[in-house]
Amino acid sequence: MRKKLYINGEWTQSEQYADLFSPYSEEKIAEIPQASEEQVDAAIDAAYHNRESMAKLTAYEKAKILENLVTLFKENRIKAAQIISLESAKPLKFSLGEVDRTIETYKFAAEEAKRIHGEMIPMDAAQNGGNRLGYTLREPIGVVAAITPFNFPMNLVAHKVGPAIAAGNTIVLKPASQTPLSAFFLAELLEEAGLPKGAFNVVTGSGRLVGDRLVTSDKVSMITFTGSPEVGLGIRNKAGFKKVALELGSNAGLIIDEGMDLDKIIPKCVTGAFSNQGQVCISLQRIYVHENVLETFTEKFKEATEKLILGDPLDEQTDLSALISRNDIERAKAWIDEAIEEGGTVVTGGEIVKNILLPTVIVDVKSHSKVSCQEVFAPIVTINSIENVEEGIRQINDSKYGLQAGIFTKDINTALNASKQLEVGGVMINDIPTYRVDQMPYGGVKESGNAREGLKYTIEEMTEMKLVVWNQEQF
Ligand code: SIN
Repeated sequence: MRKKLYINGEWTQSEQYADLFSPYSEEKIAEIPQASEEQVDAAIDAAYHNRESMAKLTAYEKAKILENLVTLFKENRIKAAQIISLESAKPLKFSLGEVDRTIETYKFAAEEAKRIHGEMIPMDAAQNGGNRLGYTLREPIGVVAAITPFNFPMNLVAHKVGPAIAAGNTIVLKPASQTPLSAFFLAELLEEAGLPKGAFNVVTGSGRLVGDRLVTSDKVSMITFTGSPEVGLGIRNKAGFKKVALELGSNAGLIIDEGMDLDKIIPKCVTGAFSNQGQVCISLQRIYVHENVLETFTEKFKEATEKLILGDPLDEQTDLSALISRNDIERAKAWIDEAIEEGGTVVTGGEIVKNILLPTVIVDVKSHSKVSCQEVFAPIVTINSIENVEEGIRQINDSKYGLQAGIFTKDINTALNASKQLEVGGVMINDIPTYRVDQMPYGGVKESGNAREGLKYTIEEMTEMKLVVWNQEQF
């Protein structure tokens, strides 16, 4: 029950512990060490002192460690999913899905480890470039500090740890306070996979103390963060010359044109809006439906939503469970009430049962209501009518966020036009904005972030380009 920090390959006790509770049952599930400043510094030092030996590993050796990790995750698939469900209240079926994605993410990382290379530079294209051989190398950036969220405690960690190892970096991980157990489990697996001592460290505790120490340390070369725009901005402002990669939130939107087979689209929309209780950065939050099909869509969507099974996250049947904290339940409920006061109508949901917020569908929502213009991170979706796709594009773009957007249309020109006009990092044609596979470039514009994940792209962020130019004259 009492967990330990993982520093320099050693399991280390702390002086202080905080109780960790299940968001669903509210029972105590563990005691989590609260790292002191000295312990955070020790983790940074371990990563710093081991960065040269990590950088010397061959591509073959790094890929082998990641392949071993894949095997261990496969052997521990159910256990890993149960840990996710226990600490985050993600329903088991989605936790199993997350573990399968985690396996794939580390597999892609193993493959990418073998493809890190620079390029030849045609030096003689310049007047002064004759008789020169020029090429670039990609070198490890050094110590990567990863600050990760609760909503995908295995796979969003994999998106930082996998490419960091592939690139030959060392890591200090600060997992979300609500989901440290997944991180400790990863440390156990990485040790067994053969990662050198000190290359991976886990420090838990106060966000302010641990996070600040990582963000301001001169020994850390890069911060990779997934979380809220407010925290992301704070990190960037404090990080000095470090590289900072931010994956932030959104209020993802979808356009549904007329003439579509709604029976095929609706199950996707229900999954996109409510999986993991809507606590997904690309959760389907705003649906803009062509006025000619609005009524049918809303009725069918309501029916499908009401079929979701609510309950214990560890039960295989459960579709939707508790939000991560009581504060989040209350915040989400207050936002629903505000949307109603501002003219919206709740079609289904809107109530709290124990610590579950019922999946909630609201129509005729004003664009300035928080459930529309802020990131809701709860099982709430809005449906609004549009006269045409152009109007839907305008509504989606009327946002401070820009992560992913979707459009269902049969018209190829409409789809092409939407892909050009939507101000987001990724446009999903004939799919929900929640669609993601793990090798694709993933990230946002505006307040949704400043980087791209997806193994190849993260490896670019986690390596420095070095140029080598040989003068071929004889001296
Ligand atoms: C996120 O919430 O940013 C990640 C979504 C995903 O990986 O599916």
